[in-house]
Amino acid sequence: MRLVYEKSRAGRRAGRLPNPDVERVDVPAALRRQAPARLPELAEPDLVRHFTELSTRNFGIDTGFYPLGSCTMKHNPRANERVVNLPGFRDLHPYQEEDGSQGALEVMWRLQEILKEVTGLHEVTLQPAAGSQGELTGLLLIKALLDAAGERQRVEVLAPDTAHGTNPASVTMAGLELVDVKTDERGNVDVADLESKLSDRTAALMLTNPSTLGLFEEGITELTEAVHSAGGYCYYDGANLNAVCGISRPGDMGFDVVHINLHKTFSQPHGGGGPGGGPVAVRDELAPYLPVPVVARAGDRFVFDADRPASIGRVRGFGGPFGVFVRSYAFIRRYGPALREMSEVAVLNANYLMARLREAYDVPYERACMHEFVASARTLKKEQGITALDVAKRLMDYGFHPPTVYFPLVVPEALMIEPTETEAKETLDEFVDAMLAIAEEAKSSPDLLRAAPNSRPVRRLDEVRATKHPVLRYRFDDHPSSE
Ligand SMILES: Cc1ncc(COP(=O)(O)O)c(C=O)c1O
Repeated sequence: MRLVYEKSRAGRRAGRLPNPDVERVDVPAALRRQAPARLPELAEPDLVRHFTELSTRNFGIDTGFYPLGSCTMKHNPRANERVVNLPGFRDLHPYQEEDGSQGALEVMWRLQEILKEVTGLHEVTLQPAAGSQGELTGLLLIKALLDAAGERQRVEVLAPDTAHGTNPASVTMAGLELVDVKTDERGNVDVADLESKLSDRTAALMLTNPSTLGLFEEGITELTEAVHSAGGYCYYDGANLNAVCGISRPGDMGFDVVHINLHKTFSQPHGGGGPGGGPVAVRDELAPYLPVPVVARAGDRFVFDADRPASIGRVRGFGGPFGVFVRSYAFIRRYGPALREMSEVAVLNANYLMARLREAYDVPYERACMHEFVASARTLKKEQGITALDVAKRLMDYGFHPPTVYFPLVVPEALMIEPTETEAKETLDEFVDAMLAIAEEAKSSPDLLRAAPNSRPVRRLDEVRATKHPVLRYRFDDHPSSE
C-alpha cells in the first residue's frame, strides 16, 4: 500500500495522476473503498520472469517466417532504428516551430519527392496514418473535385470483387456507393462487366494492382481509359507496391490518385494494427484539395504550407506518423537506385514458393504471380475433409506463422502466401517442406490437423466467439476481494 501511495505521489509530481485528496472530496462516501485493494505482491524477479515468459509466446517477424498474404510482413532493418533514434528526430516535439525542425521537414519533403517519382504523380500528402486512411482521403479528394465541377450525381465507385475489405469500407465512409465488378477466369477485372457498369453516375474505379490474387492486371490501361472516357477518376490502391516499385508507375498507367502503404513497401511490418503510414499521391487536377498542411520548399527553407483554400482539411494531427517517414526514408536511401531489386526479389520468392507448392495444393490461375499468390486447399477439403484453416493451424506446430486464409473470397479455401524479398532460400524451402508434410498428413493422420495447433500455449480457439464476445478486461472474479 505504501508503495502504491509513493507511486501516486511521484506520478502526481510528474503531472500524470490526479491528486487523490481532491478526488476524495468528489467521491460519495458510499462508493469509497473501505479496505485497501488486494493487489498481488510479487518479488521483482518473479514479475520479470512472468512477463519475459509471456513475451516468448508472441510470434513476430523477428521470431520466424511470417508469410501473411496481403500484409507484407517485411523485415525491419535495424539500421532504420538507429536513424529514427538520432536525437534530432527522437526528441522532436510535435509543437516544435518550423525553424527548429528544418531537418525533420526536409526528410518529409524529400520523402514526398521520392513518392512522386515512384508513383509518377504530381503532389503528395503524407498525413494519412494507414493505407485505409489513405483510401478515405483519396476518395474525399475525388469527391471534392466532382463537387467543384458540379457533378454531384457521380457517387458510384467501381471496385473488383477481390478488393481488400478496407476499399468498400472507405467508399461507404466517403458517402459514396460501391459497385462490385466481376473477376474473369484469368484473375483480371472482367472488362465487359466493368464497361456495362460505367455511367454518368461513375465517380471512380478503385483498383488494387497487383490484385489481392497476386496478379498484375493485364488490361490495366484499357480499364483506366474506359473509366476516363466515362468521366470518372481512377484510384490505385497501392498497398501492393512492393511488387512493382521502381518497375512500373500508377501515374503512367493512367491513375489519378494512389495511396502507398509505407509500412508494407518500405519495411516496418505493422502486425497488430500499427504504426503505419498511408501517403496519397495525386495528379495536378486534384492537388488543390489535398489535406493541409503540405510540406513545401520555400527557397532554402522547408515549411508547412496551409494555403490551400479548397483543401478537404486535415486528416491527421500534426505532420503525420513521423517515425514511419524516417524509417521509410532511411530504407529507400539505403537501397538507392537498386530499389527495383526489392520488388524483383519479392516477386521471385513468391513465384518460387508457388511453383513448389503446386505439387500438393491447387493454384487457381495458371500465371506467374507477383509478390504473393493464392493457393487453395479445395482438393484437400473435397477428398480428406481438411480445410484451409486446418492447414494454417497445423503450420503453427511447424513453427511458421499461418498465411492469410479465406481471402480473397473468390477463391474457395484460400491460402494467401506472401514471402517478401528478405527471406533466404533455405527458409522458403523449410516452409515448403512443412506445407508438403501437412498435405501428406491430411491423408495419413487428418485428426492431427483438425486438432491443430497441438504444440502452442493456446489450442484452437472459437474465433467467432472471440470476436463477438471479446473479454478485454481484468477479471475481478479471479480476485474477489479487490472489488
Ligand atoms: C490491398 C490492400 N489495400 C488496403 C490495405 C489497408 O492498409 P492498412 O492496413 O494500412 O489500413 C491493405 C492492408 O494490408 C491491403 O492489403
